[in-house]
Amino acid sequence: MTSSDRPASGARRVVWSGPGLPASDGDGVKLTRVIGQPKLPDLDPFLMLDEFGSDDPDAYIGGFPSHPHRGFETVTYMLAGRMRHRDNAGNEGLLQPGSVQWMTAGRGIVHSEMPEQDHGLMRGFQLWVNLPARDKMTAARYQDIQPDQIPEVDLGGGARARVLAGEIAGVRGPVQAEATRPLYLDLILTPGARLSAPIPAGHNGFLYVYEGEVSAGAPAERLPRGRIGVLSDGDQLDLKAGPEGAQLILVAGRPLREPVAKYGPFVMNTEAELRQAFDDYRAGRF
Ligand code: CO
Repeated sequence: MTSSDRPASGARRVVWSGPGLPASDGDGVKLTRVIGQPKLPDLDPFLMLDEFGSDDPDAYIGGFPSHPHRGFETVTYMLAGRMRHRDNAGNEGLLQPGSVQWMTAGRGIVHSEMPEQDHGLMRGFQLWVNLPARDKMTAARYQDIQPDQIPEVDLGGGARARVLAGEIAGVRGPVQAEATRPLYLDLILTPGARLSAPIPAGHNGFLYVYEGEVSAGAPAERLPRGRIGVLSDGDQLDLKAGPEGAQLILVAGRPLREPVAKYGPFVMNTEAELRQAFDDYRAGRF
């Protein structure tokens, strides 16, 4: 390890911030690509973050018809709306408001993610988390987590957290991911609320504000709705909500520090493994 790899203690700060970019995926679903845009710094183990949010059915009704994944995990967190999930192994599930689906694609799945509504608001996030080389060809698995299985903790000072993964104030979230040990918090801050959130040193982290506005880090940087803040190393993050309060996701994870070869829905370590993924998919071996 070089000295720059050594985890740092102290307050984190925002080292890069910016808005997500408009994008379209699946069958014409309009979304905001937050991680996965070209300018963003490397956020190992996080590969992509999309926010979807619209009450216009034309923006989501096409859904995400049958498509493959290999080599990583997809994490879908629904804030509003309902999405039906089906895969080629016969699994099926309904994502409801407040629920999380943590899917380990492993060696491969082919699935669809389709809206189960033709009007009203559809809102949430999909995060892609990389898998280490040793787990890329593991069997696919799901952690389907209902809203009432996600603990909500009062952190004092006007801050509450829904703990999807990781731990805060002694409360553990239901999701387990061995290699990346993710922290995934949905934070709800009242106007002017203050919070100092512990984040494991050495883990890469970011926050994304989806309502209101926060000042984040030391020195503080103002992040309005729709901005991601990529964090420096450190073992805590100081937050202060703006005059209208704020809602944001705070996510961190242990970097894998492995080579990444990715193309579309396949994320492997080498070009040869990517070619193998295409061959396997075309030959129906997923
Ligand atoms: Co998918």
